[in-house]
Amino acid sequence: MKKIINSAKKTLEKGNLVIFPTETVYGLGADATNIDAIKMIYNLKKRPFNNPIICHFYNIKKIEENFEITPLDYNLANIFWPGPLTLILKKKITSNIHPILSNNLNFVGCRIPNNVIALELLRSVNFPIAAPSANLAEKISVTQLNHLSSELIEKSFLIDGGLTTLGLESTVLKTEKNKIKILRLGSITEEEIQKALPKSKIEKENFDNSLSPGNKKKHYSPNLPIRINVKHVKENEGLLNFGINNLKSNICEYNLSKKENLKEASRNFFHYLHLIDRSNCKGIAVAPIPSYGLGKTINDRLKRASAKDE
Ligand code: TXA
Ligand code: MG
Repeated sequence: MKKIINSAKKTLEKGNLVIFPTETVYGLGADATNIDAIKMIYNLKKRPFNNPIICHFYNIKKIEENFEITPLDYNLANIFWPGPLTLILKKKITSNIHPILSNNLNFVGCRIPNNVIALELLRSVNFPIAAPSANLAEKISVTQLNHLSSELIEKSFLIDGGLTTLGLESTVLKTEKNKIKILRLGSITEEEIQKALPKSKIEKENFDNSLSPGNKKKHYSPNLPIRINVKHVKENEGLLNFGINNLKSNICEYNLSKKENLKEASRNFFHYLHLIDRSNCKGIAVAPIPSYGLGKTINDRLKRASAKDE
């Protein structure tokens, strides 16, 4: 692995892209201080420039060098980092993180991932790594390398870390005094945040508004048509099932978690969605998923996956 990390480091230093594992999903990484490298991410992903990219750091000291951190931010950081938390923080004017990363806004999403490979890579370079999820804009996130789209493979150095452990992206939070705003649901649940900081007020954004531009109505979309909360499966539809029930597909079927375990379901979610999308089904039918804990995040992704073009 040392050799691979070293090649990845050199790739980033040259201003090129590296696809690397995190505990949530794979990231498409670049030097966050290099404008041309950041532009390559936007172009390759076909992502609009008004949708900011988050920055990954090795530790909180590196974040402190670039950002202002409030007491409530520190509380969240101490509890959830390294881990699937993205905190929107105010950039210091002395920071050399390029403004193009955040659509010229002073607020940038920051995260310390909990993955040995990602942390080794971050430790090896002397700049933060800008990295959105390694998928084309609006498409399904990638939790193992063989689901990557060919456009991304051609232009990047790849690090294989197997299937990611959590399977859903980070939770994006922004604090305001004693208030915590959830900008994107993710691998940390609202219940976990409330339990960790019972005195803070948690506010959920209308997830379709523009505070977090990545929260577009249509996102995480498979190529096949998808129906959610189904009561029956149509002929030639593939089934993404949850728990034990009477649903059946005549063509292909994956169960997110027979034991109705939402953690297991989260880990399998994008992986199985890719598998059904690639199969010879005519469409995808998804069983109802409970709407608490991680189920809320899965349902958020499903709602967007099944949304029509805007
Ligand atoms: O788990 C993850 O967060 C993965 C891994 C690779 O770290 N990354 C990821 O990045 O999911 P991306 O770009 O696909 O999603 C980041 C989300 C988007 O919805 C984006 O709009 C939002 O965070 N975001 C980023 N910077 C922001 C900012 N400055 N203000 C508000 N929202 C921001
Ligand atoms: Mg994404």
